[in-house]
Amino acid sequence: MLADTAREVTVTETSDVPASFDAALSNVGRRALVTGAAGFIGSHVCRTLLRGGWTVTGIDGFTDSYDPVEKLMRAASLARLAGMTLAVGNLADMELDTHLDGVEAVFHLAGRAGVRASFSSEALYIRDNVVATERLLRAARRGGVRRLIYASSSSVYGDGEVPFHEDAPLSPISPYGKSKLEAERVCLDTGGRDLETTALRYFTVFGPGQRPDMGLRLFAEAALTGGRITLLGDGTQRRDFTYVTDVVSATVAAADSPVSGLAINVGGGCAVSIAEVLDLLARLTGSRLQVDRQPFARGDVKTTSADLGRAQRLLGFTPLVPFEVGYEREVAWLRERLDQKVGVPV
Ligand SMILES: NC(=O)c1ccc[n+]([C@@H]2O[C@H](COP(=O)([O-])OP(=O)(O)OC[C@H]3O[C@@H](n4cnc5c(N)ncnc54)[C@H](O)[C@@H]3O)[C@@H](O)[C@H]2O)c1
Repeated sequence: MLADTAREVTVTETSDVPASFDAALSNVGRRALVTGAAGFIGSHVCRTLLRGGWTVTGIDGFTDSYDPVEKLMRAASLARLAGMTLAVGNLADMELDTHLDGVEAVFHLAGRAGVRASFSSEALYIRDNVVATERLLRAARRGGVRRLIYASSSSVYGDGEVPFHEDAPLSPISPYGKSKLEAERVCLDTGGRDLETTALRYFTVFGPGQRPDMGLRLFAEAALTGGRITLLGDGTQRRDFTYVTDVVSATVAAADSPVSGLAINVGGGCAVSIAEVLDLLARLTGSRLQVDRQPFARGDVKTTSADLGRAQRLLGFTPLVPFEVGYEREVAWLRERLDQKVGVPV
């Protein structure tokens, strides 16, 4: 019952991604490996690929970055879908070759995310982001994979000049950002004619299923349960929030784009301040938010904003879901989970 409900919610939410019958037919027989398949974005990527006719193997290590039960619930829901196979293991030490047999494209979304936690557990970030990526790249090359798409991050820019352009100087200010940049370089440097690689720099991804450590979800959970919101900083910091189905569209499009060795921004197209987020949340929930103010957090940049020219040119990418619409969907999804007393949203 739980899994059925979860599946319904997710299928509705991926409906922004067009999947025509013809497109699905043309993908039949194509095999993809999705790492981080039980994660927030990885699980959406798996569903979209399956809907598009691909056969998908997912790998996830169910790391302790947040409650692994949340990841297990996503995995259980995915495992019911035709064309989906799941393997459990950490890319940093698991056997990989058998999972790459016949794989045409690798969507590498496994990674230890989160800026703040990275200051206290740097070694885990190196293992899960850098070592894992190096091993995967070597295995992909051995396995004859045609293309690898890496989930990089806007964190590689640090507090750079906005909008961030892919060729701008990169100076990440957190161990997380540094590990993502190192892994991105491993991908782009290892790529070549036999294995084409693309790094997609995602900008703060949100929507149903969002990670429980991310601000938008924490704010909404507090608002819906009468809890207190912790605001780090004065609310003027801005984020280029990107709705998850837009991120998935760009990611899947990268599998067929004739581009290699490049980083490409994937952003939502509009930088929204945290103060604006809280105003919208108060309207969406009809509640008076209780906000505790604290100093800016280490590693938080002032503004993120993506230059989307390259994504438009090379991937035909345009974000479709405006922030207000996407956040309303995330809040509705959370409200439904809380109303049903389903402890673990999927
Ligand atoms: N969510 C965002 O706003 C955002 C922004 C920029 C980049 N990214 C990147 O996108 C990817 C997915 O992010 P998410 O928000 O879905 O995070 P997530 O934590 O929900 O998903 C990542 C998944 O990867 C798994 N994993 C981590 N390290 C692994 C390893 N070494 N081997 C096997 N499995 C491993 C985790 O168990 C988890 O299920 C990450 O690489 C993240 O750095 C995310």
